[in-house]
Amino acid sequence: MCGIVGYIGKRNSVDVIFDGLRKLEYRGYDSSGIAVIVDKELQVRKKVGRIYNLRSDILKDPITSNIGLGHTRWATHGKPSEKNAHPHMDSTKSIVIVHNGIVENYAKLRTELLECNQEFESETDTEVIVHLIKKNYSNSLFRAVQETLSEIKGSYALGIMCKYEPDKIVCARRDAPLVIGIGQGENFIASDVTALLHYTRNVVFLEDGDIAEIMADKVIIRDIRSNIIKNREIKSILWNDAQSEKNGYKHFMLKEILEQPRTIEETFRGRIYPNEGRVYIKEFGLKDEDIKNISNIYVVACGTSYHAGLVSKFLFENFAEIPTEVDIASEFRYRNSVLSKKNLVIVISQSGETADTLAALKLAKSKDCWTLAICNVVGSSISREAENVIYTYCGPEIGVASTKAFTSQLTVLYMLAFDLANKRGKLGKEKLKEYLNELWEIPLKISGFLKNIKLLQDIAEVFISKRNFLYLGRHVNYPIALEGALKLKEISYIHAEGYAAGEMKHGPIALIDESMPIVAIVVKSGVYEKIISNIEEAKSRGGTIIALASEYDEEIVAKSDYIIYVPKVNEFISPLVTVIPLQLLAYYIAVFLGRDVDQPRNLAKSVTVE
Ligand code: F6R
Repeated sequence: MCGIVGYIGKRNSVDVIFDGLRKLEYRGYDSSGIAVIVDKELQVRKKVGRIYNLRSDILKDPITSNIGLGHTRWATHGKPSEKNAHPHMDSTKSIVIVHNGIVENYAKLRTELLECNQEFESETDTEVIVHLIKKNYSNSLFRAVQETLSEIKGSYALGIMCKYEPDKIVCARRDAPLVIGIGQGENFIASDVTALLHYTRNVVFLEDGDIAEIMADKVIIRDIRSNIIKNREIKSILWNDAQSEKNGYKHFMLKEILEQPRTIEETFRGRIYPNEGRVYIKEFGLKDEDIKNISNIYVVACGTSYHAGLVSKFLFENFAEIPTEVDIASEFRYRNSVLSKKNLVIVISQSGETADTLAALKLAKSKDCWTLAICNVVGSSISREAENVIYTYCGPEIGVASTKAFTSQLTVLYMLAFDLANKRGKLGKEKLKEYLNELWEIPLKISGFLKNIKLLQDIAEVFISKRNFLYLGRHVNYPIALEGALKLKEISYIHAEGYAAGEMKHGPIALIDESMPIVAIVVKSGVYEKIISNIEEAKSRGGTIIALASEYDEEIVAKSDYIIYVPKVNEFISPLVTVIPLQLLAYYIAVFLGRDVDQPRNLAKSVTVE
């Protein structure tokens, strides 16, 4: 949540910062601001709303400088307003900061500062930091920051400038992401690499506790003990700038939905060999002997990633015969699970920065469990914390609603489940070949399906006036019902519930009347007949049925009002195809309603606070 960009070099920092903020807007978008140093004085501009509000304001009255900081905000303390927007300055207008994170002891610090007659401009937790830095400042910004951070509890990624030291930005991180971009005679900071790709792909990921001084021609990083780090690795990022652009699509979300045949393939490429009946995930890290000894699997994640986790329970239990529990990270971390050395804890996170998932991972490590992260962002906090990481390789996901990351997470989970099953002697080579071949053909099948997306547009248009939706599924498609409902509610603001179809009679069926559309996932599977009965029960109470059925299924015609046929695939692998029409349905409904699809209200892409 919140995005930070900073620049020092020969260019106009304002242009670099706007370019970066635009790429980071998915992290928060209720207000934005920029600070630069001009003629040894700080200048700060802020605006409520989207970044283009600030941009147009600055175009009317331009500023130019070779050093600057920018911020896009997702409000935690203090409502979205110009006063609460970052950057924040001290009262003498000498020091300015941008912050991503939460100062947990801010109330106490604020009271202490008020007792010393310090005035406050905003309601934010961040403002205490800048006043403390000023209080601690004598002649070194670095030392003032170092001293201040020892007084602060909580999480932060910080960018700081001081008008008395106009040749440097000081930055620091603890439990919030910050990356330094290394250029030629210029350097950058940002909350994530997408903000920097236009300028450099060489980056250094800061570690928790690091404080760095960024000058145009050099970077000095000190660790938590104040030792200068001489050999911190400079990583070369494989993503390119074009991947973080819309490339002609109206929305990132549509682009990302349509990319899925390719992104699924990129996730399994070089990792599965269907003809040989072999899975090779070199990053997995567990030895064959350890794999045999796994007693339980815990899968922990949030939101859409949690739904991918729910699918994996069916896979790990059915194929590898390993008892599996799936938890929402914010629950797992506080519920005192009985964890032990023989447990494999898998955390799933697109961003790799979700605070609760990161905390759950740290907890699992502290209990000596094997930990594995399934993650999309190289260098993210979760990817660095876990013992082993399997990257999803689906490229940057910018739309706030997760789509392609979900299908890539599923792809990793399929490979993993098949591999574990095979290595534990539960899935023979011939069966493994069969499943891997099914997986291999998925991208082609999705591409075929995507040729008919007009159907989804037409169905979406019929239902835009509805205020409630039910999504029903069973078995592996129950989590897909949850995911379909989540997609609809988060981008269209229509209330939607996902239910295990067999649960309807235990309460929710009371909701059904003529005004209730029911999206039922009824692909061919071992529970096909069961869900058909559930559909009949809903239909006989007046519900309108939108059925997601396997191609060539004729029985469904009489039982439903609208049919979306999806390619026929093995029932365990079907979530990879059933989720696609649900993403599109949500997308088109939101578009018809004129919603801001890529940046829905109240949300942020990376939830870096608890
Ligand atoms: C929904 C969505 C969120 C995320 C959740 C976890 O479309 O994107 O529910 O899935 O915030 O985020 P990551 O996967 O980054 O940990």
